[in-house]
Amino acid sequence: SQARQFFVGGNFKMNGSKASIKTIVENLNSADLPANVQVVIAPPAPYLEYANNLVAAPTLKVAAQNCFDKSSGAFTGEISVESLKDIGLEWVITGHSERRTIIKESDEFIASKTKFAIDNGVSVILCIGETYEEKQAGVTLDVCKRQLKAVSDILPDWSKVVIAYEPVWAIGTGLAATPQDAQDIHKSIRDYLVTSIGKDQAEAVRILYGGSVNGKNATEFKDKADVDGFLVGGASLKPEFVDIIKSRL
Ligand code: G3P
Repeated sequence: SQARQFFVGGNFKMNGSKASIKTIVENLNSADLPANVQVVIAPPAPYLEYANNLVAAPTLKVAAQNCFDKSSGAFTGEISVESLKDIGLEWVITGHSERRTIIKESDEFIASKTKFAIDNGVSVILCIGETYEEKQAGVTLDVCKRQLKAVSDILPDWSKVVIAYEPVWAIGTGLAATPQDAQDIHKSIRDYLVTSIGKDQAEAVRILYGGSVNGKNATEFKDKADVDGFLVGGASLKPEFVDIIKSRL
């Protein structure tokens, strides 16, 4: 809808170096990005402050790819929300399917860190989505509902949450969901959210599509009312990321 600001996230995953991240951020700084598109890039943790210091474009922010659900303490290897704020960050990604499936994070843990980030003033890109097996079993919406319910059970205020629907079978495969399939599931997700967080919040929350979005196919989602932006992996490391950011112009 017109009321929801178009949002494009770039998830670099465990890729990049100081040199490549400098190139990417400087390219975005000089790209004349549209003033009405919110852009958030998520470099690997060791480069967060470095990347944030390079940002000059007013609509560009930096996100962490993960955080923990405690402020500080004996949690070796974890990332504190307080540290993210300390280096000037306003965003974190939670629930990415790679953390759900490879690192084995539970719905409850993801919900807890999502709530902790929001409660401590850091906005969240909350990722949800089904695996190929779940899609084949016809349980796509059930999986999304379960992942969302874990969060809505403990988080009443979704004004600082952006949802990213990322079907696992579409991630890094070159096989993006069709724009109509994405629209249909986004609409079903929003209809479900009406029942869990209420109509006003459900209508206000952005639902991004993620999974093999590139500079070419991004424009095909243009007229899909419930696709409020994208979360981009591989293509966010390339100059075509700018084409995705500009895909609604
Ligand atoms: O978080 C974004 C991501 O999982 C999608 O990756 O490489 O298919 O755009 P990719």
